[in-house]
Amino acid sequence: MESVPRITRAQSMDALSSQATVAGYKAVVIAADRIPKLFPMLMTAAGTIAPVKVLVIGAGVAGLQAIATARRLGAVVSAFDIRPAVKEEIESLGGIFLDLGVVGEETEGGYAKELTAAQRKKQQAELEKRIPDFDVIVTTALVPGRPAPKLIPAKAAQAMRPGSVIVDLAAENGGNCALTVPGKIVEKNGLTVVGLTNLPSEMAFHASQLYSRNVASLLGLLVQDGELKLNFEDEIIEGACVTRKETKS
Ligand code: NAI
Repeated sequence: MESVPRITRAQSMDALSSQATVAGYKAVVIAADRIPKLFPMLMTAAGTIAPVKVLVIGAGVAGLQAIATARRLGAVVSAFDIRPAVKEEIESLGGIFLDLGVVGEETEGGYAKELTAAQRKKQQAELEKRIPDFDVIVTTALVPGRPAPKLIPAKAAQAMRPGSVIVDLAAENGGNCALTVPGKIVEKNGLTVVGLTNLPSEMAFHASQLYSRNVASLLGLLVQDGELKLNFEDEIIEGACVTRKETKS
């Protein structure tokens, strides 16, 4: 399922997207549950409460869902991605594009290419300056085939206000934050760092429903008239096939 090419015709089979959508939503719900603050701005007789400030790093499928969910809860959301095309998508969801002055390249498939050492240094330095201003950070930055880029050094994370929460959706690939422990929720000096690696399982009903539709859609292509028909000229079938024995025709 992971190898299904992410082309328009295969969108209904895209399990990476369906599960990332669930994970992005759940990341924000976990942050809202953990932080001792209300997300929305409230004007009450007992005083005015400022909205929570959320930063989403990496605005792919999971990141865009995290932005939308945090906005629905009333947070002020900023987001950053190294793919320049993403700025408009962030803004269309009501997010503010955080300009760190780092622009990366995009592969033909729409994925990010790894940054150069100089770009990485610049990104970290700029992020370090801005991180203390946020209450919640959701990180989703991944580069296919590479370990997750380390974007938040321990020092920068610890500069956040007590009670702040980082949810690291890149934990399975090593994490975007230096304090992330994959599979665990850790607390350090008032900062909570969530490194859970299987968030879609926490939303099993809809994660399974979407995944089963992805599988059914792929099967619809593989099976015709009740027979398995593997047409390797079809780029979806060719791409999804991990290994096969070549047969001479
Ligand atoms: P992903 O999970 O591989 O990466 C998440 C995000 O992290 C990406 O947006 C990437 O640009 C960003 N990133 C990488 N390094 C970063 C860094 N140092 N700092 C900040 N951000 C960084 O990507 P995902 O969510 O699986 O898909 C990414 C893109 O793939 C989509 O936005 C889309 O363009 C394309 N896609 C196309 C589909 C189609 O049907 N045509 C379907 C699904 C995805």
